[in-house]
Amino acid sequence: MIKKFGDKRDWFFEKRFGMFVHWGIYSIPAWHEQIMWRKNISRDKYVKYMDSFNPLRFNPEKWLDLMQEAGMEYLCFTTKHHDGFCMWDTKYTDFNIMNSPYKKDILKMLSDACHKRKIPLVLYYSVVDWHHPNYPNQGRSHELDKPEKGDRPDIPKYMEFLKNQIRELCTNYGKIHGIWWDMNTMGHVDKSVHKMIRKLQPQAIINDRGFDKVKRGPGNGDFCTPEREMPEGMAFNYPTEACQSLGVQSWGYREEEDFFSDKFMMQSIDRILSMGGNYLLNVGPKADGTIQAEFRNSLRKIGRWFNKVKESYYGASPASNLTDNKDILITEKEKSLYIHLYKGPVSSTVKLNPLKKMPRHAVLLNNGLHLEAKVDSACTLWKNIDDTLRIRKIPVNRIQNEPMVIRLDF
Ligand code: GLC
Repeated sequence: MIKKFGDKRDWFFEKRFGMFVHWGIYSIPAWHEQIMWRKNISRDKYVKYMDSFNPLRFNPEKWLDLMQEAGMEYLCFTTKHHDGFCMWDTKYTDFNIMNSPYKKDILKMLSDACHKRKIPLVLYYSVVDWHHPNYPNQGRSHELDKPEKGDRPDIPKYMEFLKNQIRELCTNYGKIHGIWWDMNTMGHVDKSVHKMIRKLQPQAIINDRGFDKVKRGPGNGDFCTPEREMPEGMAFNYPTEACQSLGVQSWGYREEEDFFSDKFMMQSIDRILSMGGNYLLNVGPKADGTIQAEFRNSLRKIGRWFNKVKESYYGASPASNLTDNKDILITEKEKSLYIHLYKGPVSSTVKLNPLKKMPRHAVLLNNGLHLEAKVDSACTLWKNIDDTLRIRKIPVNRIQNEPMVIRLDF
């Protein structure tokens, strides 16, 4: 069982599904959010993207409409990615949105819109910085090979800059529901950073890529953050938020992106939520501020499914240990069990051995259909298995494109 925080941060266990947004000047070259590093673009050249960043079609209300249609309830936004460009009006570097032709504080617009709808807003912040002269770039993971000419690597100075920026973020934008660190490659430990956040924003959750420990993982911040390749298992035993992007190659906008299928995404979401985790699903908006049609369509489809099955996650806990059937996951709430056929069933029945209690009803949440439940022995290849609960007549040929969830009421 996951232990809750027992304070204002517990909103995290109530809002299970969130939208991740990777947006910055890298949306102009439209290749990858790490284009500067991956294609070895010099700082001189890269900063020029700032001079043409002018997302005139950015409308935070539209992003939030879409997010809510998808069933998502919180937002995590990249305030500063590894390139060092800041999407808010910061006093601590000129490399920020106010010096672009757009000249408007994007974070302010977004946070105002979130506050109006009471949507928790979490701020992503990259520790690695390819722009700041004091960041100690030395060719480790996601760092420039070496400092650029004129840089003065200096960890205490860089940390002072970082703390000033985090204080700004935790002071000027109303309630902030979290700080989402990325790439503390230098493995710097400094407990005062998280302490400051907790003081300024007590409801803020902090992920495991920050400053409590050298490495990611339990004990660093509040929750773990597996990304892209999702862990297997029946249940998480530590607060976890998995993140994945709708685009296969990049988190930021990519012109020639490949896309995960809606079915794959829904299966992944169903699995992680059934294990008791949260899910942060990413989109990378275009340089004009809009979200591309492929993402909009997927999110709407995911939302239509999610809204039908979400009662199986909210307030429920993982209970997959009730069965030996490894093809399914189970969640439990009050007097109901929810059977998650996240892999896609191979037949019209699901066996729940060793469970043998008859439910009052078995309802397929995807379409409200009442299914048949039986407790009897079943034939397998070599022998009979003892009496077991079996749910029959699952419409496997009718519903093939989304994971099915069955509610058993006892
Ligand atoms: C990785 C990448 C980064 C992305 C992040 C999201 O750490 O370096 O580009 O923002 O994953 O989890």
